Amino acid sequence: MKEKIRSLLKKRKAIMLSHNYQPPEIQDVADLCGDSLELSIKAAQTDAEVIVFCGVHFMAETASILSPDKTVLLPREDAGCLMADMIEPVGLQAMLDKLPPMPVVTYVNSTAAVKALSTICCTSANVVDVVNSLDADEILMTPDRNLALYAASLTKKKIHTWDGYCPTHDRLKPADVNHARRTYPDAVFMAHPECRPEVLELADVIRSTSGMIRYAEESKKSAFIVGTEIGLLYPLKKANPDKLFYPASSKMLCKNMKKISLEDVARSLELMEGEVKVSENIRQPAFKAVQKMIDLSLSK
Ligand code: 13P
Ligand code: SF4
Repeated sequence: MKEKIRSLLKKRKAIMLSHNYQPPEIQDVADLCGDSLELSIKAAQTDAEVIVFCGVHFMAETASILSPDKTVLLPREDAGCLMADMIEPVGLQAMLDKLPPMPVVTYVNSTAAVKALSTICCTSANVVDVVNSLDADEILMTPDRNLALYAASLTKKKIHTWDGYCPTHDRLKPADVNHARRTYPDAVFMAHPECRPEVLELADVIRSTSGMIRYAEESKKSAFIVGTEIGLLYPLKKANPDKLFYPASSKMLCKNMKKISLEDVARSLELMEGEVKVSENIRQPAFKAVQKMIDLSLSK
């Protein structure tokens, strides 16, 4: 199946991108695995004609926003993101109407229509830089309240939050972390900024998914408790075969991130099935918000 996919990728002049939470067999056959920021940058810069995106819907949509002339395929159209579904443009507009004018920072884990109403996007890797880049004392951050509270803890700006969250990360509680710490007393606890503030308070380091991989590679420590979706254990182990990684909680599983199989990827490439496309009236304002974020990150 892997050989079949590689030959279909060649035939279609396609690139296969995989998020770090995808199943191991998907990560092993992909051209690039990464966090949301790395995958967005690659989607903007690739000269491939087709992008087959192994992740969830907003990721494929972001690729299509950035590269409207390319065909973007999501091998399972039902691979959504529960957090992205927690905000809709009408609700955001109603909140904006109640607040004094201020920039809107929207996490890439959102629909194109919500990005289109935003000043700039951010990911877990660049949220603090994005917030500090804005010439405003007050900012509305959507949809992740945990990411917004994390950013608020690192900036002097007043941050207004939207009450969305990632159920996979929000599920992790201090009691789980304390239990993992007691079980692995020498391990470093790495947490993702989508975790609750009371969990982040217990963290030794807070990073995006690729940030955690780099941190583990550079660290002299040999054991790590991983406070993010459990799919990250695979690339962590692959990059650090001599180190030990333990899930902070086995409950941290995102079902949507596990939907795509190798068969789905092959079928999607064979039939050019599962195209994700954004209508031009939404794409253009959404593009501005995503491109601003990418320009800022590339200038750092
Ligand atoms: P990052 O890989 O950008 O840290 O994002 C995590 C996530 O939840 C993606 O859905
Ligand atoms: Fe969405 Fe959370 Fe799943 Fe990422 S892990 S796709 S944020 S529900």
